[in-house]
Amino acid sequence: MFQKRTGYKPISQTTDDSSNPDTDSRHSRSLLTPLLIACISLCSLLDVIFVLYLAIHWARSTPAWALNPDDLAFRSTYINFDRLYKNDSLTRNVYPPLVNIPVGVGHVSSTEPQRAFPLWPSYDLVHDGYAPKVERNLLLTSSIRTIAQFRIRDYGMENCSLVLDIPASSPQVYPSQDVEVWELHGGRKINWKSLSWKTMPRRKTQLGTISLSPGVVRQITGLPCSSGSYHTFELSCATVECHVNFTSMAAEATGLYLLQSQTI
Ligand SMILES: *[C@@H]1O[C@H](CO)[C@@H](O)[C@H](O)[C@H]1NC(C)=O
Ligand SMILES: *[C@@H]1O[C@H](CO)[C@@H](O)[C@H](O)[C@H]1NC(C)=O
Ligand SMILES: *[C@@H]1O[C@H](CO)[C@@H](O)[C@H](O)[C@H]1NC(C)=O
Repeated sequence: MFQKRTGYKPISQTTDDSSNPDTDSRHSRSLLTPLLIACISLCSLLDVIFVLYLAIHWARSTPAWALNPDDLAFRSTYINFDRLYKNDSLTRNVYPPLVNIPVGVGHVSSTEPQRAFPLWPSYDLVHDGYAPKVERNLLLTSSIRTIAQFRIRDYGMENCSLVLDIPASSPQVYPSQDVEVWELHGGRKINWKSLSWKTMPRRKTQLGTISLSPGVVRQITGLPCSSGSYHTFELSCATVECHVNFTSMAAEATGLYLLQSQTI
């Protein structure tokens, strides 16, 4: 609690050198000064070297603020799973294929090469304001193509099938259409705000031409897809007379989606 106050004793303001006439200490002080100077000089030199090193390093490398996060390498979150699954004596669980819906579905138009279509064109009024409707519109005309991007989920589910499924019960019924399916270049995230006919990624491989008709599920199987990577597909009309307009809602597995099958 409280300590009892003791009397105040001032420290003597004068140092009494005469009481300790030490020639030894004076000798060591005279030795100490050059040693201190040497030490300080060495430290300063080291500092200068380190600052120079940092300056050179900084000048050579791209500063963090100038990096585009989309250009950075992907790091797998499934750390050491590769090592674990190398062991053949491990018993493996069998999982059913998982459904992967596109992270984005956009459109480009050959008649409006500069136009960037809005990614989420319709909004819902919710209690906090407006929220985009999670809709995926598969829209194909003789001039409009649909671009869909997927990010591969999970680990060891790296055998993908691209599925086109338009239910017969959908109100947007039309006769069957021949549709070209392409895989596009660039395994990076698409910038949807600037995606247009002019800026869309180049075509890489044609995966096939499929006859799209309501009530018939079409699949393109055996597409290798590594965990965490991006895959971008383009759908376009194979014939001049063509019109497809089908909207899938939220996470429902209709329209265009991927099925990821187990590979481990
Ligand atoms: C593989 O797994 C078995 C048991 O599941 C274990 O005994 C063995 O040491 C493992 N082998 C390696 C190379 O890690
Ligand atoms: C990939 O999955 C399909 C079925 O979806 C199957 O027919 C095919 O054999 C699988 N390929 C590999 C390499 O596992
Ligand atoms: C597609 O269908 C929706 C209704 O489902 C309609 O509002 C939209 O205008 C159609 N788009 C085109 C380009 O036909």
